[in-house]
Amino acid sequence: MVPALFLVDHVRRETRDTTTVELVSVANGQGMRFAAGQFNMVYVFGVGEVPMSITGDPGRPERLIHTTRSVGAVSVAIGKLKPGDVVGIRGPFGTAWPLQEAGGKDIVVVAGGIGLAPLRPALYHIRANREKYRNVFLLYGGRTAGDLLYVKELERWWSESVFRIEMTVDRAPASWHGTVGVVTSLIPRISVDPKQSVALVCGPEIMMRFTARELERYGMEQTQISVSLERNMKCAVGFCGHCQFGAKFICRDGPVFRADKIVPLLGMREL
Ligand SMILES: Cc1cc2nc3c(=O)[nH]c(=O)nc-3n(C[C@H](O)[C@H](O)[C@H](O)COP(=O)(O)OP(=O)(O)OC[C@H]3O[C@@H](n4cnc5c(N)ncnc54)[C@H](O)[C@@H]3O)c2cc1C
Ligand code: FES
Repeated sequence: MVPALFLVDHVRRETRDTTTVELVSVANGQGMRFAAGQFNMVYVFGVGEVPMSITGDPGRPERLIHTTRSVGAVSVAIGKLKPGDVVGIRGPFGTAWPLQEAGGKDIVVVAGGIGLAPLRPALYHIRANREKYRNVFLLYGGRTAGDLLYVKELERWWSESVFRIEMTVDRAPASWHGTVGVVTSLIPRISVDPKQSVALVCGPEIMMRFTARELERYGMEQTQISVSLERNMKCAVGFCGHCQFGAKFICRDGPVFRADKIVPLLGMREL
């Protein structure tokens, strides 16, 4: 439960409200080993502690990387961090994307908005182990073109043809030549064997529900789809109950769940 001290080494503004920080441990100058999909509790001293997905490359743990959208007290404080500042880190916590089970299969990665951050470590892993997977698609949707994350990196991956990338925005000026519409509208563009595929999905809950439904229409079972959930957290280790969702604790049983275990609960108001 005691946070370890991490030094802010580098800060990059991604969009008008989203920032990426690279951290190194004060104790040993290193980052942190983690599995793609896991999260940390990030503590800004004097402000508070919030869960944040780890968004770096799991194969390169020399830097601990978090991308944060500023929505409230703590995330705004993370967005204002400068090189040389020190934060507290607890973790890594939680479950990981099922990248071993995906071996030998097609993969469909579907991200909405900041939901690309928890999926980026999975994309790094797939890229580094490309021969282990068949067709790989990344479908990514943002509110506007200015809200899309990691654009330069996505352009590089697109030019390398490591995997097929399709992007869409909800609203666009006339100068935008790409797709306009919700991210589920990109699903008909994939060509995978639905019975030999795995889908990794992260974004707003409504987006994950509709994406799971469209992937099922495509021929996939919910057992082949994984989603990552967010809830308010305090302890992050299954003690306090803040993140309880039905019979599950998101911090301990998630945040990555197989869709058949959790998606049916997403529409229930009383949860
Ligand atoms: C496992 C896990 C991983 C996460 N990973 C990331 C990540 O990688 N990057 C990231 O930016 N966030 C991530 N989050 C969400 C992040 O923890 C919250 O945005 C943060 O806790 C908000 O705290 P705050 O003090 O900044 O805002 P608060 O003061 O708690 O909230 C301020 C206002 O913002 C609203 N709000 C809170 N969270 C959100 C949200 N996510 N979207 C829109 N409005 C919101 C609240 O309803 C409230 O009105 C993750 C959450 C979980 C559970
Ligand atoms: S945050 Fe305490 S039980 Fe999950």
